Formats: sequence, C-alpha cells, structure tokens
Amino acid sequence: MFSFSDQNDLFARRCVWVNGPVIVGAGPSGLAVGACLKEQGIPCVVLERADCIASLWQKRTYDRLKLHLPKQFCQLPKLPFPQHFPEYPTKKQFIDYLESYANHFGIKPQFNESVESAKYDEACRLWRIKTVSVQGSVRSEIEYICQWIVVATGENAERVVPEIDGLGDFHGEIIHACEYKSGEKYSGKKVLVVGCGNSGMEVSLDLVNHNAKPSMVSRSSVHVLPREIFGRSTFELAMMMMKWLPVWIVDKILLLLTWFILGNTESYGLKRPSIGPLELKNTYGKTPVLDVGALEKIRAGDIEVVPGIKKFSKNMVELVNGEELAIDSVVLATGYCSNVPIWLKEAEFFSKAGYPKTPFPNGWKGNTGLYAVGFTKRGLSGASSDAMKIAQDISKVWKEDLKQKKQKVPTHRRCISTF
Ligand SMILES: Cc1cc2nc3c(=O)[nH]c(=O)nc-3n(C[C@H](O)[C@H](O)[C@H](O)COP(=O)(O)OP(=O)(O)OC[C@H]3O[C@@H](n4cnc5c(N)ncnc54)[C@H](O)[C@@H]3O)c2cc1C
Ligand SMILES: NC(=O)c1ccc[n+]([C@@H]2O[C@H](COP(=O)([O-])OP(=O)(O)OC[C@H]3O[C@@H](n4cnc5c(N)ncnc54)[C@H](OP(=O)(O)O)[C@@H]3O)[C@@H](O)[C@H]2O)c1
Repeated sequence: MFSFSDQNDLFARRCVWVNGPVIVGAGPSGLAVGACLKEQGIPCVVLERADCIASLWQKRTYDRLKLHLPKQFCQLPKLPFPQHFPEYPTKKQFIDYLESYANHFGIKPQFNESVESAKYDEACRLWRIKTVSVQGSVRSEIEYICQWIVVATGENAERVVPEIDGLGDFHGEIIHACEYKSGEKYSGKKVLVVGCGNSGMEVSLDLVNHNAKPSMVSRSSVHVLPREIFGRSTFELAMMMMKWLPVWIVDKILLLLTWFILGNTESYGLKRPSIGPLELKNTYGKTPVLDVGALEKIRAGDIEVVPGIKKFSKNMVELVNGEELAIDSVVLATGYCSNVPIWLKEAEFFSKAGYPKTPFPNGWKGNTGLYAVGFTKRGLSGASSDAMKIAQDISKVWKEDLKQKKQKVPTHRRCISTF
C-alpha cells in the first residue's frame, strides 16, 4: 500500500494505492474474504466504519442473542469454532471467535473509516473509493485506488424505521431493536414491540422474562418454526430433505411437523403466509422465525399478539381493528436494509434496494473487479461460500498478473509500473 498527499493543501484528500482488493466492511463476511485471500498470499485492505470488527454483533444486538443455527453452519472458512463451543454459540462466544479469527489471519481493518463513495474509473480501469473518518473534531478523507472492490457491508447495514401516523407525537421512549440490550429497565412497563420477525419475537420474550408486559404487532403473516424437530435442528433437517425432495414437498413436511410440535399458530394471531417457509425465503428473502420460547409465552398470554397499527398518540396506540392500548414504550423490531445504494456508484450489478440482481448462487461477482459477499439471504453459511469463491476468482487473476510481471519487468520497477 503506497500513499500520497499534497503537503501544500492541508485539506487535500490523501490518496492510497492498494496492491490487492479493498474489502468494505469488517463483519463476518469481510473477515471471511480477508482470510481466504490471505491464504492465497494476496494482501488486502479492509475498511470499517466502526471502531471494531463485527460491529453489528458487538454494538447493535441484544444481550440474550445466540446463533439460531447449529454451529457447523455458522463458522467461517478455514478456522472452525473451538470444540468446547455449544451447539448454539452465544453472542459473546461468536464475537470471541471472530476476534481470534481476525488475529489468526492477521486481518487488521482500518477502523473508523466510512466509505462514502466508490466508483469505477473507466479511464484508468480502477476503482476509486472515498472514505471519511471523524475523530473528535478532526475530519479526514482518503481515496483508495484499487483493481478489486469487495462489498461486505451486509444485508443489515441500516435500521428500517417505518413512517407511522402520530409516531412523532408519542411521549414515551421509542427505540429500534438494534438499540435494545435487555428488558431490565422495562420491568412493570407496557411495551409495544412493532414486528414479529426473529428480533420482535426474541425482544418480546426477553421483555416477559424481565417482568414487562409486551404487545407484539403482527400486521401481515409469519412462519414460525420450532428451532429443533425431534432433537435435530430444523434448518439441518430441511437442508437434508432438500437433497432429495423439491422445495414445496419439504415445506409441506416442515409445516406438518411444526403443527404437531407448536400447534396451530394462527389461533394466537400469527397468520401463516400462503406459500411455504423455504419457498418464501427463496423467493422474497423473508426469514422464518425459529422459535426459542416466545410461542410458549404467547400461548400463556404473557405476550399479546396485536394487529397492525393505525396511529400513535401521546401515550396510546390505536390498532387497525379500532382497539386502543395504553403503552409506555415502543421497540421497533422492523428490520434492516442494505446501504449499498448510498455509496456504490454502480447500477448494473446491484439493484436499487442494494442487493445483487443476479439470483443465488451467482450473486457474488459483478463486472470490472466488483464482488459482493453476504448478500444471499443465507446468513453466515452463505457468506462463507461467497468468500471462498471470491478469493479463488481474484487469486486466478493475481497469480496470472504476477507471472506476467515477473517475465516482463525488472523487480525494482514492478510497483511503480503497476500504479
Ligand atoms: C439480531 C441479528 C441476529 C442474527 N443472527 C444470525 C444467526 O444466528 N445466524 C446467521 O447466519 N445470521 C444471523 N444474522 C444475520 C447477520 O447479519 C449475518 O449473518 C452476519 O452478521 C452477516 O455478516 P456481514 O459481514 O455480511 O454483515 P455485518 O455483520 O452487518 O457486517 C458489515 C460491516 O460493514 C460495516 N459497514 C457498513 N457500511 C459501511 C461503510 N459504508 N463503510 C465501512 N464499513 C461499513 C458495518 O459497520 C459492519 O461492521 C443476524 C442478524 C441480526 C440483525
Ligand atoms: N438469533 C438469530 O439468529 C436472529 C435474531 C434476530 C434476527 N435475526 C435475523 O436478522 C434479520 C432481521 O430480522 P428482524 O426480525 O430484525 O427483521 P425482519 O425479519 O425484517 O422483520 C421485520 C418485522 O417488522 C415488521 N414491520 C415492518 N414495518 C412495519 C410496520 N410499519 N408496522 C408493523 N410491522 C412492521 C415486518 O412485518 P411484515 O412482515 O408485515 O413486513 C416484520 O414482522 C433476519 O435475517 C433474521 O433472521 C436472527
């Protein structure tokens, strides 16, 4: 990595040539690509807007979080989880694993550097990536120039905050699920949890466990599946069946088994979508809820399931069925979105919503050295599989380039001619 700056202009942007790919994001996906590249002997620069790796896990998740899928589906390439880890590692164990993963492969991200724009320069056939970092009152800008860019900013980069009538008039506390840590401070309070995805369900469960009174909004439909069926992970069982059976049959089997284990969830106000859980996930990317105890609390009446919201007022919420609830606080478990459209100046590979347009399994490679990791709606296992393909692809070009340079240019001139 070489850097240049114009000493005459205090405010000039520093310009850095990167000999290798730039990875944007130091979450599990970015680390996985970094590790696979290191294994191939390819240097890279990892840019991270936060001050730590895996900022989603370290800063934007609740305390009781555990991985929902068994550990063998969540470990990153080239370094398995320690043997003593439980079947479903805790958030802390997962973060410890990621820290040791980064150390093991010598990945040292550039922290506090937020990528503000990335554009392919047709004239020089290189990517120009601009970052901003603010430390105290000092703001600095850097431009990285490289041949390859790997987008690893995640499917959950930004919180989704819906516009709901009267939300601004509500006098109580309103937070997003990414700010929720524990239900401790909500003891005795009436809390409206908006959304019934995995976050909404688990926040509601945590609130009950801390003696709060949650009402959970389910405005449309949701598939709730048990985390395990006959002692085996539901996910693992589904993956096994998918090897021999078409998706629609696997869905029917899953729903039948779910009915035996959980009963009719519709009777608790949780309407089921008309298409099966795997088909829904494959077609619309909507993740089914893997129940870790919320359903029992719903059955017992500790979590009240309520329909969509009409409007908020000072200390009340009015629901679409006309019912009014007095509430103290609101937790918006309304999901997340990609931030790629904000900073990546490209419209061919990524959609307007910030996901690769090409469906799985081909959404990892674009044109002109552009790659995407962790955008397949397949969680950590999808990210690992993308990472290995990306490193292999870059390595082919890298090795070919190296061979040609060795043949053509005397060693002492190699770097200069590259720039
Ligand atoms: C509450 C919760 C629980 C989850 N549990 C599971 C689970 O159990 N199993 C599973 O497989 N998946 C789970 N997921 C999905 C999870 O997001 C991914 O599996 C995993 O974190 C994806 O890793 P990633 O690196 O792609 O994205 P992230 O973990 O989101 O990492 C992206 C990184 O990019 C950085 N970044 C973003 N924008 C910029 C920018 N402009 N410039 C520089 N850096 C930037 C972010 O700060 C972040 O550190 C969960 C998600 C949530 C929200
Ligand atoms: N332990 C774990 O593994 C774990 C835990 C938590 C989250 N996650 C993962 O993290 C990702 C995000 O999950 P998430 O639960 O945060 O988000 P999500 O799955 O996108 O769910 C968002 C929920 O908010 C609802 N919603 C959005 N806008 C609304 C509005 N205006 N009014 C009422 N409801 C509204 C949605 O309803 P509609 O369906 O009607 O739009 C949906 O129920 C998923 O991949 C999930 O699997 C994993």
